[in-house]
Amino acid sequence: MVRSISELKNLSGARVLVRLDLNVPIQNGGVEDPYRIERALPTVKYLLDHGARVVLMSHMSDKMGTLQPVYAYLKTKIHVSFVDDISGTKAREEAGKLGNGTALLLQNIRRDAREEANDEGFARELASLADIYVNDAFPVSHRAHASVVGVSKLLPSYAGFQLVAEVEGLSPALSPESPSLAIVGGAKLVTKVKLIDTLLSKYDYVFVGGAIVNDFYRAKGYEVGKSLVSGADHAKPMLTNSKIILPNELIVLNPAGSHETVATEVGTEDVIIDISPTAIQKLAPIVAKSKSILWNGPMGNFEKGFRSGTDDLAKLIAGSSAKSVVGGGDTLSSIQSLNLMDKFSFVSTAGGAMLDFLANGTLPGIEALKNSK
Ligand code: 3PG
Repeated sequence: MVRSISELKNLSGARVLVRLDLNVPIQNGGVEDPYRIERALPTVKYLLDHGARVVLMSHMSDKMGTLQPVYAYLKTKIHVSFVDDISGTKAREEAGKLGNGTALLLQNIRRDAREEANDEGFARELASLADIYVNDAFPVSHRAHASVVGVSKLLPSYAGFQLVAEVEGLSPALSPESPSLAIVGGAKLVTKVKLIDTLLSKYDYVFVGGAIVNDFYRAKGYEVGKSLVSGADHAKPMLTNSKIILPNELIVLNPAGSHETVATEVGTEDVIIDISPTAIQKLAPIVAKSKSILWNGPMGNFEKGFRSGTDDLAKLIAGSSAKSVVGGGDTLSSIQSLNLMDKFSFVSTAGGAMLDFLANGTLPGIEALKNSK
């Protein structure tokens, strides 16, 4: 396992560089959902309470996006300032002015192209801001970027509390107790092939929902109309595996603009938008008997508002007595809006990183911490 910041006792005056994932949804210039920020705060508060001088860095997926709204939120919680710079003169000056128990938030680290290129010179510039590095950014730890893996080669490195919680919370899903059910939704089957193969080797049942169902339907030779298809060739070899469960019925949007429930008879102009309530009902007995349930990804086109399959599934799992591990942005949004957060054994803050962790048992950011001196 990695070293946690709880091992760091003598922090008064220490300069600590902390990688967080503050990549949160922004709406009308404000933070729309602070969940990830809230989960990152215990680490920052721990460091500040022990008198450290803390430099915070994060990305936004939008490379030109600003962390200003995140700063506006953060400053209501901790003693923090903001600099519209990353590793240049302004950032160095502001970091140099930090007093004990105060923090500085740098601008969106992806504004510098050297971040994603894992440029060594950039990692050196970042590392020069501190004496100790902390990674508490599990949701981006599947990216071998400069602030995730590069800096940990240069500074003594530690894991933040949320990163440790994610590893501990997700690890039981790597060896589930039988009977076990994994549910994979969302889109882009191509990016989930290794994960589904791993799940098929460990779980008793693997239920497939979301747009990846389209690939399975196409692989079976069914019509999918105008629905998104990304990797039917990858679905084909999985079809023979008896552990795979597909929804028995889907909801489609027809050219007249109305919704219809269909089994396999998707029209050539239809778009598959969700799984039907009967598909959830059919899954209910398996959920009821399962001891371990893992779920990531929406069952329908959640972003466009087709969320009833996802919400129904959330309610079903929330009512079960299984150990349940869930994650992914839309999944989280569903269970938050239904007020079901405390009904799951573990709710991950991550999307893609959760999938990679489950597929590989580790992430580049975690390995970098393990290899750090
Ligand atoms: C996420 O939201 O999944 C993480 O912040 C990673 O973001 P990214 O996909 O832009 O690297």
